[in-house]
Amino acid sequence: MSPAPRPLPLAPLRGQRIGVIGAGNMGQALLGGLRRAGVPAAALMAAERDQRRCAQVRRLGVRCVSLDVLVERASIILVAVKPQDIREVLQRIGALRQGRGVLVISIAAGIPIRAIQRLVGKHPVVRVMPNLPATVGSGISALACARGVSAAEHAAASAIFQGVGEVVEVPERLLDAVTAISGSGPAYFFTVFQALREAGASLGLPGDVAERLAVHTALGSAKLALAAPGQLPALIARVASKKGTTEAALKMFRHRRLSSVIEDGVKAAARRSRELTAMLDTQVGA
Ligand SMILES: NC(=O)c1ccc[n+]([C@@H]2O[C@H](COP(=O)([O-])OP(=O)(O)OC[C@H]3O[C@@H](n4cnc5c(N)ncnc54)[C@H](OP(=O)(O)O)[C@@H]3O)[C@@H](O)[C@H]2O)c1
Repeated sequence: MSPAPRPLPLAPLRGQRIGVIGAGNMGQALLGGLRRAGVPAAALMAAERDQRRCAQVRRLGVRCVSLDVLVERASIILVAVKPQDIREVLQRIGALRQGRGVLVISIAAGIPIRAIQRLVGKHPVVRVMPNLPATVGSGISALACARGVSAAEHAAASAIFQGVGEVVEVPERLLDAVTAISGSGPAYFFTVFQALREAGASLGLPGDVAERLAVHTALGSAKLALAAPGQLPALIARVASKKGTTEAALKMFRHRRLSSVIEDGVKAAARRSRELTAMLDTQVGA
């Protein structure tokens, strides 16, 4: 599926040279979003050690350069490597950009701003938690800015992620909660789709038909919920008539305490995110 171009406030990115380190799932999604939104290829570059991925980047019209060249030339560095690879990248930024300011944006899960700043030095840092639907242009990203990040830097970081979906801003301490809702969230919905597929099959529907019914129902329901923010109980009431089929299902969900099962799962994800962050903070910053 080719994502639709998203209108992007391009002004905050004008004149910037944006370098993406790590052109995997997320790095390529972000580069693709920026290209589709009209950011010129000449304003973008990537550093990627996997040659196959470099070729994919070049198909977007974007240059693949060495890590050092990118770090030397970029005015915004977006770090999109896995947490286990981030230390050497941040150290390189710290070594090559001493005294020459650069906006550092990291999407690495669980790497706190303080750990990033310990390695890169006194640069403005924005930490972002995107999610997998960013790869089809329908993500939602939560931004947390370090103290001292300017309004212009904030606007630039926000614009980059608007290329692949919606953007919200939270204080950094809430990123574990964000991870538990929207970071891990796609897997929760896929689990529900799978359960609906199996339930449909148990009622005699072909599995693929049941899956299509479930996924399209989710898509339409999401559009309705977006059109009526804060109105979930009213939307439920529009489907569930008294003594009808939906009410029969909802009654069973309440009886089996579905809401508390979901709450417990989300709390377990947030707890794990806090544990991983504490572990990575020590490892990366040490
Ligand atoms: N995927 C998601 O749903 C998601 C959601 C939220 C946040 N994130 C975060 O996004 C980051 C990237 O995730 P991803 O799924 O896009 O990972 P990915 O597909 O593995 O992409 C990372 C790429 O960076 C390359 N790389 C690593 N170190 C490098 C270096 N020093 N110089 C140049 N390239 C380097 C890797 O090469 P090799 O393959 O050779 O190692 C790989 O191609 C992670 O930190 C993750 O926590 C991901």
